[in-house]
Amino acid sequence: MEKKIGYAVVGLGVGMGHCDGAIASEYADLVAVCDLIPEKMEKVAARCPGLKMYTDFNDLIADPDVDIISICLPSSMHAEFAVKAMEAGKRVLVEKPIDIHVEDAMKIEEARIRTGKKAGVIHQNRFNRDMFPIKAAVESGRIGKVFLGTFAVKWYRTQAYYEGWHGTWEVDGGGSLMNQAVHTVDLMQWLMGDVESVTSHIGIYDHEIDTEDMTASLIRFKNGAAATFVSTTCAYPGISTDIQLYGTGGSIEADQDVLKTWKMKEFDEDFAQAMGIDAFDVEEEEAWMLETYGKGNGPITQADPSILVGHRYMVEDMICAVRDDRDPAILPLEAMKSVRIVNAVYESARTGKTIVFD
Ligand SMILES: NC(=O)c1ccc[n+]([C@@H]2O[C@H](COP(=O)([O-])OP(=O)(O)OC[C@H]3O[C@@H](n4cnc5c(N)ncnc54)[C@H](O)[C@@H]3O)[C@@H](O)[C@H]2O)c1
Repeated sequence: MEKKIGYAVVGLGVGMGHCDGAIASEYADLVAVCDLIPEKMEKVAARCPGLKMYTDFNDLIADPDVDIISICLPSSMHAEFAVKAMEAGKRVLVEKPIDIHVEDAMKIEEARIRTGKKAGVIHQNRFNRDMFPIKAAVESGRIGKVFLGTFAVKWYRTQAYYEGWHGTWEVDGGGSLMNQAVHTVDLMQWLMGDVESVTSHIGIYDHEIDTEDMTASLIRFKNGAAATFVSTTCAYPGISTDIQLYGTGGSIEADQDVLKTWKMKEFDEDFAQAMGIDAFDVEEEEAWMLETYGKGNGPITQADPSILVGHRYMVEDMICAVRDDRDPAILPLEAMKSVRIVNAVYESARTGKTIVFD
């Protein structure tokens, strides 16, 4: 029997989801975990007999059974630990944001090139069910020329959430935008293209933190389109993640993984055929789209294991990238675009100026 890929996870907060992905994969075995808190590791070991548990990362990267390491540590630690792992011969899957500064994120890219080891980055929302038709509508021109996007991440976090490293400049690299909304910043640039400039206001409204719990930005793109982007962790009790695109051919609106609006001016038979849409006019297309993509990701079920979403999808992608010797879905250079935009928002707010990208 072919030897399975040895998977390991460092950092057992969201890293628990990475463990689930590795345990579920038929091509990998979860062989080791690393955390400073033994009880967290014991929780995983209870499901995984023989699991190796390390409190020192140096011991994890010296383990010859480990092929891939998910780096799930607080955000400012990503580059240091990912580079160390790659230099020890391991492949890495790094949590979002890739790191909190572009210069640090670049170190992961440089190590990837220098060591020849694979490095992928988590931005799992690109694989939400509704993103498939939305991205296709933009890329194929179905929605026409996109001229406006409105993005709003209206979430809520209690003060207790900010008692540790969250919301600090040093470790989190920011507040609602760098931590919560960076997913949607990634989707914005993925759907709308390269950013030309950023003009922003940020503030602290309902928490005792150093950074921000609200940002509001005007984003202009190199292709001439514009977007508004707002993020907050003060919108009690957590309202929505609005992703809205307006093109000369129609309008699309979603709330995170749920498609809400699909209004096209004219029917496009080629698009319908390519997407497998069972429809003959725009009204039927709209009804089919909302029926098919309007219910969210849904659970991963035994009945339909092909519905792989979230972390499970991205961990499986990383494992298959190693098995098939291909690139993982999201490479460091792609993942650092959202970090650059987030830092431009902060710089614009700090200086009162529009930040223009080269
Ligand atoms: N993709 C997503 O949806 C998502 C969701 C949550 C968090 N994240 C990202 O994941 C990362 C971790 O966030 P979290 O919420 O899980 O944080 P967390 O604080 O809950 O967990 C971090 C873990 O790392 C451990 N740790 C810290 N230093 C260590 C060290 N030197 N060696 C070994 N273990 C160490 C801690 O003990 C802790 O268990 C962040 O970058 C965050 O942005 C992503």
